[in-house]
Amino acid sequence: MIEQKPKRILVIGSINMDLVLTLDRAPEAGETVLGESYAYIPGGKGANQAVAAARLNGEVFFCGRVGSDSNGKILLENLADNKVNTSYITVDDSSQTGLAVIPVDSEGQNRIMVFPGSNYLVSREDVDRAMQKSYDAIMLQLEIPLDIVYYAFEKAKAKGIPVVLDAAPAVEVDLSRLKGLYILSPNEYEASKLTGIKADSVENALKAAEILRDSSSADYVIIKMGDKGALLYDKGHYDMIPSYPVKAVDTTSAGDSFTAAVTVKALEHGNIAEAVRYANAVGAICVSRRGAQPSLPTEEEVRKFLKGESI
Ligand code: RIB
Repeated sequence: MIEQKPKRILVIGSINMDLVLTLDRAPEAGETVLGESYAYIPGGKGANQAVAAARLNGEVFFCGRVGSDSNGKILLENLADNKVNTSYITVDDSSQTGLAVIPVDSEGQNRIMVFPGSNYLVSREDVDRAMQKSYDAIMLQLEIPLDIVYYAFEKAKAKGIPVVLDAAPAVEVDLSRLKGLYILSPNEYEASKLTGIKADSVENALKAAEILRDSSSADYVIIKMGDKGALLYDKGHYDMIPSYPVKAVDTTSAGDSFTAAVTVKALEHGNIAEAVRYANAVGAICVSRRGAQPSLPTEEEVRKFLKGESI
């Protein structure tokens, strides 16, 4: 078999340090709950997707910003250690590195509070610099200013580069400014926010996917539905692709890893349903481990998981 050249992917997005607190249950308003442990773990939706794609053998470049603080230094080194090209990451003196505070309960469910910091200073000039090179695809999320998302999309479109948008977190994005996406992938919650339809069943997710496709003209809309799987909507056809049953201990970065995996695999072989199946395996491995980036699997681990071998 001829070895494929790795696909060149530019991620334009956020980099955060995650402060993860493990506790039995999240507190109510005004209540104090004691936690069991805490850890500082590399995260950020953009950085998670970059590391996920690199572990699945993508050739990944990152465009973003960190502050000139110790978290910024650690996160830059971590990306480089994960073979993500960091040449287009700016160290910004004027702000702190992004921080996410994440309580994770005994069911593995999280809540995420984010201080965006330098992520909100990513500029058009940063994008211009990174986009001097050519790429097989660009991955975007919504944890940097929307103006930059629209700008990067326009530039990519003018150059004919496919763009994948992971519509997270749930913000009011104008999809009419992103017409012609390659893949649009929200989770159930984000799909509901974008369409007004509670996308919690196949029937409703399909309705939401139709609306999302109409407003974005995306080639593929993929709604991540957690342990139910993913709904793939492709020009009037849909396929509900089931998840792999695993015990979830922490769902952080499962959506990020899914989108990165779909992107890498769709670019490699063009079979989108296969790519979603593979991404479901990546997401399943991710939820069975703790933390954002430590839980992202390598290609070898996914291969073993799919064969039913222990990893
Ligand atoms: O999607 C998970 C990520 O969201 C976390 O790593 C956190 O940093 C927030 O950006």
